[in-house]
Amino acid sequence: MNILKRIGWEIPEHQATPEAAVLNRRAVLAGAAALSIGGTLAPGAARAAAAAPTALPTPAGLPAMNPPRDMTYRAGRALTPEKIATTYNNYYEFSEDKDLWRAAQKMTVSPWSIRIDGLVGKPRTVGLDDLLKQVTLQERVYRHRCVEAWAMTVPWTGFPMAELVKLADPLGSAKYVVFTTVEEPKAMPGLDSPLYPWPYVEGVTMAEAMNDLAFVSVGLYGKPLPKQSGAPIRITLPWKYGFKSGKAFVKVSFTETMPKTFWAQLAPDEYGFWANVNPAVPHPRWSQATERLIGTDQRVPTQIYNGYGPFVASLYAGMKGDMLFR
Ligand code: MTE
Repeated sequence: MNILKRIGWEIPEHQATPEAAVLNRRAVLAGAAALSIGGTLAPGAARAAAAAPTALPTPAGLPAMNPPRDMTYRAGRALTPEKIATTYNNYYEFSEDKDLWRAAQKMTVSPWSIRIDGLVGKPRTVGLDDLLKQVTLQERVYRHRCVEAWAMTVPWTGFPMAELVKLADPLGSAKYVVFTTVEEPKAMPGLDSPLYPWPYVEGVTMAEAMNDLAFVSVGLYGKPLPKQSGAPIRITLPWKYGFKSGKAFVKVSFTETMPKTFWAQLAPDEYGFWANVNPAVPHPRWSQATERLIGTDQRVPTQIYNGYGPFVASLYAGMKGDMLFR
């Protein structure tokens, strides 16, 4: 595998923020911090921000989704406008460019079924419609932080990953949950690239999957997920770098051994299994101290675990080292 080629969603060297520049910006950032986590955003304000109309297509035949918003997790900053969040994506199966949303419309997302296998009592295939009848949808506004140091704030519709795990009924020996993305060669030109170890595979430990913050998303901004955002079903892990949140999964496997994840196969020192957000652990080629909010391009300080430490830090008690943050 030739990993000397720059992975497309990486920041080119000339765009990465040098440490010195970051330090010089601290005074400016101190002001920006007032806008970050810890502050609360009134639900009405968030709703208003989310109400921007969009002309973007969503999968045909699927209903609008307006379940109640779970207010446990406050984003503490304004929602990213829908049109911006849904036209700036990473989805390598389609393209290495961010404006892949047009190309993604070629994908077929209905009917959709998911294979549940590995260490489970009864391996089986479940239709998405059936699955959705067995869970309770809610909306959660999460911060979303890419390893490339851009970030957004979006309202997902979905259900806790723990509900999916319980439905799957894993055996006691299961230690990891592994999500595999669909491969649609006719719609996804990226699959032709021999550089990448398709299919896109991501995974978490059972403890991470059972944490309430781990979410399975089927909607965005009160509508079914747009194709470019991972339709019809994706994972959402807001305390980790975005590459952990695999899109359009068709298989959920329970394993005893740590899975070989997509990016870790390409560059294990840069994109490991854990990938928890941490401003103090730079990517080997750029700083993670700050992040750029897409839409405004404002630079704000990165927060450890993307600000979700109170909910997830205990998952890593007793574990040490930078590997948790790459
Ligand atoms: N899932 C698949 N199948 N293919 C991908 O290329 N990119 C990842 C992740 N999930 C990716 C993926 C990366 S690098 C990021 S930052 C997020 O999706 C981006 O999610 P978004 O486009 O919805 O913001």
